[in-house]
Amino acid sequence: MQNIKEQLNILRKETQNCLKCPLSQNRTKIVFSDGNENAKIMFIGEAPGKNEDKMGLPFIGRAGLLLRKYLKELEYNENDYYITNTVKCRPPENRKPTNKEKKACQNYLKKQIELVDPKIIVLVGSTALESFAIEKTTITKARGQVFEKEYAGKIRKFIPIFHPSYLLRKHSEEQNSPRFLFKKDLIFIKELITL
Ligand code: URA
Repeated sequence: MQNIKEQLNILRKETQNCLKCPLSQNRTKIVFSDGNENAKIMFIGEAPGKNEDKMGLPFIGRAGLLLRKYLKELEYNENDYYITNTVKCRPPENRKPTNKEKKACQNYLKKQIELVDPKIIVLVGSTALESFAIEKTTITKARGQVFEKEYAGKIRKFIPIFHPSYLLRKHSEEQNSPRFLFKKDLIFIKELITL
């Protein structure tokens, strides 16, 4: 029986050969994950962008670096989290992945969740939120709340947060600004796993 790391590596290799949807035609690299496969927190973003496609790593473009900057500022350790996306290939022109594309990729994400088995799944932005059909809600209403839902074999905790690309256009950190709420949610998540 392989350990989790080995099983994730097998899954990564599978995605590298994946031709299940048209996104595979234009990819430079598969963007499978970054971070610790034993982490208690899993961040799920929307989709790889240009930098991610080039380097094969999630959240390394402008928005991704903003998320990473806040994680560092709030003293998240890199071992605390595992990062992936709803789809593993870059959609053209950074458009949102379609439902069909997300569905084609869904089993990879499901298997990642099963194997990493995080205590908390952070849904980064509305595309990730919609992928899990949490409830008929918007990211603005849902952010910072804990949703418990059966997924990949057990009841799991999901917490939606704003997507960092939204914050790129909102610079203020004053009370109740998007950046303020983003930080507040990250602080709350960190507290939950250290309890
Ligand atoms: N980079 C990613 O990997 N995912 C996003 O959702 C945004 C930037």
